[in-house]
Amino acid sequence: MPASQRFDLVIFGASGFTGKRVVNELARIGKNYPDLTWAVAGRSQSKLEGVLRDVSEKSGDDLSNIKIIADADGNDEASIKGMCAQAKVLINCSGPFTKFGEVVVAACVEFKTHYLDVCGETQFIELLEEKYDKTAREAGVFIINACGLSSIPADVGVQFLEENFGGTLNSVESYLITYFPPRMMSEIFNGIVRYSSWESLITRYILHTFLIVAAVHLKEIGKQPSFNLEPELKQRCLLHKNLSKWCLPFPGADSFVINRTQRHLLSLEGKRPVQYKPYVAFPGFLTAIGTIIGCIFLFILCKIPCTKRLLLNYPRLCSFGAVTYGDPKEGAMDESKFQYEMLGMGWNEGTDLGKAPDKKVVARISVTGLDPAYTSTAITIIFSAITILKERDKMPAAGGVVTGGVAFRKTSIVKRLQENNIKFEIVKSSE
Ligand SMILES: NC(=O)c1ccc[n+]([C@@H]2O[C@H](COP(=O)([O-])OP(=O)(O)OC[C@H]3O[C@@H](n4cnc5c(N)ncnc54)[C@H](OP(=O)(O)O)[C@@H]3O)[C@@H](O)[C@H]2O)c1
Repeated sequence: MPASQRFDLVIFGASGFTGKRVVNELARIGKNYPDLTWAVAGRSQSKLEGVLRDVSEKSGDDLSNIKIIADADGNDEASIKGMCAQAKVLINCSGPFTKFGEVVVAACVEFKTHYLDVCGETQFIELLEEKYDKTAREAGVFIINACGLSSIPADVGVQFLEENFGGTLNSVESYLITYFPPRMMSEIFNGIVRYSSWESLITRYILHTFLIVAAVHLKEIGKQPSFNLEPELKQRCLLHKNLSKWCLPFPGADSFVINRTQRHLLSLEGKRPVQYKPYVAFPGFLTAIGTIIGCIFLFILCKIPCTKRLLLNYPRLCSFGAVTYGDPKEGAMDESKFQYEMLGMGWNEGTDLGKAPDKKVVARISVTGLDPAYTSTAITIIFSAITILKERDKMPAAGGVVTGGVAFRKTSIVKRLQENNIKFEIVKSSE
């Protein structure tokens, strides 16, 4: 299909929890882009109709004219090709990506469609880079993973800090501070965790729990290319105190994504990499210790086949009601907040880089709003897509399998996110 007849955006997996948030936010954001055309896609016509109907009712916007691309099934290559051929940018919210993602990426490359997803599955991202980077470049399309809360705010945040550093930034230690309102805490035992997340934790991502974090973290560090930078940013110990809080290494995909960004910028532009280490902060010593103990316990239960089956088959019982097969109560997560305190160290302009770093700048990235975990994921992936459509000329000419940090470095994505509850600011600068 010629580009002029394609939809600007197609949301694949629009019937899922994340996909529905994307539809919701796109209905709102799309009003500022009257020419933007979009469609929803998935394997069930009735579910997709239901999503459009629900969002219309909730927002008061009439979405009855939004096209539905039904029968797009990850197990049916032809249907996926048919969907990708109709999009300029494909937004993939249909996880797990290791299972259905590759067929979508291959079709996007074939039909010269830009591909974005909310995947945090690092092995899948590595596989794509190995297998599709060359062909994506030849096709001139971008394949960009992890465009959700993991990892756009942190990836773009490091660049925001670097741009505002006023010298040479050598390293960033990032501390994720979360705030959960009393309303959410009172809902915990009425089902606040979706079964899909629980299943992921128990089956495939258990290695990402906090205890193993130490091991995984060290392994990941081992896998990262050594930038041979001086002074080297050392990993802090498993439990340590900073910012008046007790902190542990942060197990998410952010560090993997940001190290990829730095590696790409070094090879593309010869830019000096920024070293990065992420941590998560807890309000008290007991919460941090409790998290470690809980994770050890969960890890052991997951390793024993019969207790693992118990966790999967009786999730409500095993989680004291925290896990739900349906959606968590609407509004339960509202007013929660995610804040990244990024402590940047480096040198003032003109200082000899052989000397000890003499400058510290702190950037804060705050993610707020209604149900910020999922809403911000919708916002970051929508603006990633809009940035490709509106600012392609400011992005690397070749395309390829890259990170958001590489793709959007010279664009105005930060300004767009600032206007949508994702705030970037410099809070402290000392020399
Ligand atoms: N990086 C981030 O910040 C971030 C944030 C949120 C979510 N995520 C990730 O996003 C993914 C989705 O999460 P979720 O909570 O939205 O899950 P979900 O509610 O279970 O939704 C899964 C979606 O995938 C679709 N799907 C499943 N199998 C399919 C197949 N064979 N063909 C076509 N579509 C298929 C489902 O369609 P049906 O409705 O037809 O079953 C549904 O639309 C997960 O991998 C999650 O880890 C990442």
